[in-house]
Amino acid sequence: MHLDARRRAAMTAERAQTPTVPVPNDLDAFWMPFTANRQFKSAPRLLAGAEGMYYRSHDGRTVLDGMSGLWCVNAGHARPRIVKAVQEQVAELDYAPPFQMGHPKAFQLSSRLVDLMPEGIDHVFYSNSGSEAVETALKIALAYHRQRGEAGRTRLIGRERGYHGVNFGGISVGGMVANRKAFGSNLLPGVDHLPHTHDLARNAFSRGLPRHGAELANALERLVQLHDASTIAAVIVEPMAGSTGVLLPPEGYLQRLRDICDKYGILLIFDEVICGFGRLGAPTAAEKFGVTPDIITMAKGITNGTVPMGATFVTGEIFDAFMNGPENAIELFHGYTYSAHPLAVAAALATLDTYAEEGLLTRADELAPYWEEKIHAFRGLPHVIDIRNYGLVGAIEFAAHPVGVGKRGYKVFVDAYEKGLLVRASGDIIAVAPPLIISKEQIDELFAILRGVLENLD
Ligand SMILES: Cc1ncc(COP(=O)(O)O)c(C=O)c1O
Repeated sequence: MHLDARRRAAMTAERAQTPTVPVPNDLDAFWMPFTANRQFKSAPRLLAGAEGMYYRSHDGRTVLDGMSGLWCVNAGHARPRIVKAVQEQVAELDYAPPFQMGHPKAFQLSSRLVDLMPEGIDHVFYSNSGSEAVETALKIALAYHRQRGEAGRTRLIGRERGYHGVNFGGISVGGMVANRKAFGSNLLPGVDHLPHTHDLARNAFSRGLPRHGAELANALERLVQLHDASTIAAVIVEPMAGSTGVLLPPEGYLQRLRDICDKYGILLIFDEVICGFGRLGAPTAAEKFGVTPDIITMAKGITNGTVPMGATFVTGEIFDAFMNGPENAIELFHGYTYSAHPLAVAAALATLDTYAEEGLLTRADELAPYWEEKIHAFRGLPHVIDIRNYGLVGAIEFAAHPVGVGKRGYKVFVDAYEKGLLVRASGDIIAVAPPLIISKEQIDELFAILRGVLENLD
């Protein structure tokens, strides 16, 4: 029997003996994020434990984690090395102030992380989430131009359907309508957007990168003509847009963005909060797609989801632009109480060890052909209008139900969960992105459950 199958059998046996975890009587006080609170509380889905590829629900069921939690548990759950590192760290040094003070492991981690970055990206600034990593990137971009005497470069360019977290900078450059509309008049001024690259008419059922759409990057040229390059600080995109439903970059698109940015002195920021740490088969999407930006944001897989941490990586050129005032001057007035928190740092170091030992940062490449065959086998099922994949990520898009957008996506999510599989719905798109330790048998299990759901979708 396969090791994970044995572990799963053991978990099932253990479950038979252990009582289920009681649901608290009162679910009212917790205002849940990005959740339909009333709907959820009328039929709660509570996760009470996790190990390897599986969650255990409060009612004692085993649930295959098809989403790495929320795109973050890339090495699987409760990995002993990471658990031990965090436990030991909290006893050894629970907290250290990060302003004008440091702790040794933060420097150790930084050197190891920049070793994973593309050539030229060699400094890292820490925060606590993807959202904060993005805010940090946008602020560094503005401050960098000012340092160089180009203070007029204040405009930021994002992209339709982009997701860059939930803080004001991130939602301003982001392009997901529901995340913006309630806060509309207080979004950052001086922001513009590129068109998104989702084109079902030309690219439906693409395997790997879509063939059509590189020319959409030329919209940046038009924005330069409209606003003048001297007003533009940076362009931010997700190399693969995850949260909006897995939109892969058309072949040649990212390189074209890079070329236009170079031509006009605009910084290029890759938001790799989802792409990073092996999801696409390499430590970074930048490496995978052969395009190096000036700034990379990361979070999630950096600690395998165990302790919150965000990181913003910059080139030596950007860093050096700040290192030229008096030595006693603080170079960047930015930082968080929990930047490089010792627990997060310890978790990240142990996570990097785990990734390295098990070859997880490139494993998605090995599994990708098998994964691709399996997911594309759903072509032709009712309501399926697109399937797309890359590395160990995939998406299935459904035609909207006449009743409204999102009904089918939500139904698939709930039915899959009830049948023992966690996936993620974004409107009528279902994303799957399992931990990178997944076996072929578990890939079969994942798609078998999903097939059972999709065949009954109305
Ligand atoms: C590309 C991208 N940027 C930023 C974020 C925000 O990260 P967090 O939820 O940790 O703030 C996410 C979260 O999914 C993301 O996918």
